[in-house]
Amino acid sequence: MSAPIRVAVTGAAGNIGYALLFRIANGDLFGPDQPVALNLLEITPAMSALEGVAMELEDCAFPLLSDLVLTDDANRGFRDANWCMLVGARPRGKGMLRKDLLQANGPIFTGQGKAINDNAASDVRVVVVGNPANTNCLIAMNHAPDVPNERFSAMTRLDHNRALGQVANRAGVPVHAVSRMTIWGNHSATQYPDAGHARIGEQLATEVIDDEVWLRETFIPTVQERGAAIIQARGQSSAASAANAAIDHVSTWYHGTAEGDWTSMAIPSTGDYDTPAGVIFSYPVVIADGSCQVVRGLSQSDFDRERIAATGKELSEERAAVADLLG
Ligand code: NAD
Ligand code: LMR
Repeated sequence: MSAPIRVAVTGAAGNIGYALLFRIANGDLFGPDQPVALNLLEITPAMSALEGVAMELEDCAFPLLSDLVLTDDANRGFRDANWCMLVGARPRGKGMLRKDLLQANGPIFTGQGKAINDNAASDVRVVVVGNPANTNCLIAMNHAPDVPNERFSAMTRLDHNRALGQVANRAGVPVHAVSRMTIWGNHSATQYPDAGHARIGEQLATEVIDDEVWLRETFIPTVQERGAAIIQARGQSSAASAANAAIDHVSTWYHGTAEGDWTSMAIPSTGDYDTPAGVIFSYPVVIADGSCQVVRGLSQSDFDRERIAATGKELSEERAAVADLLG
């Protein structure tokens, strides 16, 4: 067996953490032959709950789990980490926008960015889940000057998976038949879920569904507002589907995208498709050998351009709102 891959998870005693850790320890990120070590970071008041989670992890006797570190010290939490999954942050409640969390959660990512910079393994890769994920990722990246920017990402895979599910349901096909879905921009209600290039088998999804009114007036808002709909229904934010998306995000980054398909991932903006510089923007990306490339050359309508500009504008505004945290 190869050497363990070390994964740091913050907010490990929280709701997403509880749905995430057992899957990592079971081999869902890197496959059934790859041992993993877990660094679990929490705030001091949650250390007792974290110890309970650790007992449960031990009681699963996962053959791949080679080491477990529990800590409330970020330097220790990120030490030698090859992957950092930054989940720990407050969730929003009913009636809030994710960006309402910026002032409460943004400061978490200054110290964690620095701790990653100073302690993580030289090949570290980071995914930010805690909301507002794109701008928190920007903050962390700015505090990790020695880590190449392209190692930082924020998660829009949950939105991507939601969009796949909506299109599959509407077309009456299994979800695995749908490919080339795209989420553009921010993990917020301005995101642009774009089924315009999606395929169902070999056909364009728009031709199979053939209902522009549904695509514009039902599909897009349903995906944009899904997080709020779950909070309204459950009284708390998505956890199992968020953990599943985080597994998908890291596992696709590690293994690469499937031939002929792409995924959605928020990465340091590249300027492609006239997106603003200096934000973390979700694009369609193909991944090979750990490297993400934006899918270039997709045709765009005025509607597409307007939607992409709107979510880019919101990201630029979020960046301005946290200027004091960017160092
Ligand atoms: P939760 O409140 O159940 O758990 C959060 C955990 O983070 C708590 O245990 C808390 O003690 C811990 N924490 C807080 N500050 C910390 C810090 N500085 N260091 C380490 N741990 C810290 O919340 P949850 O439901 O697990 O959600 C976590 C975050 O993920 C929220 O911000 C939520 O909005 C976000 N989220 C994002 C997506 C996405 O698609 N990007 C999806 C779902 C949830
Ligand atoms: C989600 O999309 O489910 C999460 O970002 C939680 C939220 O606040 O909507």
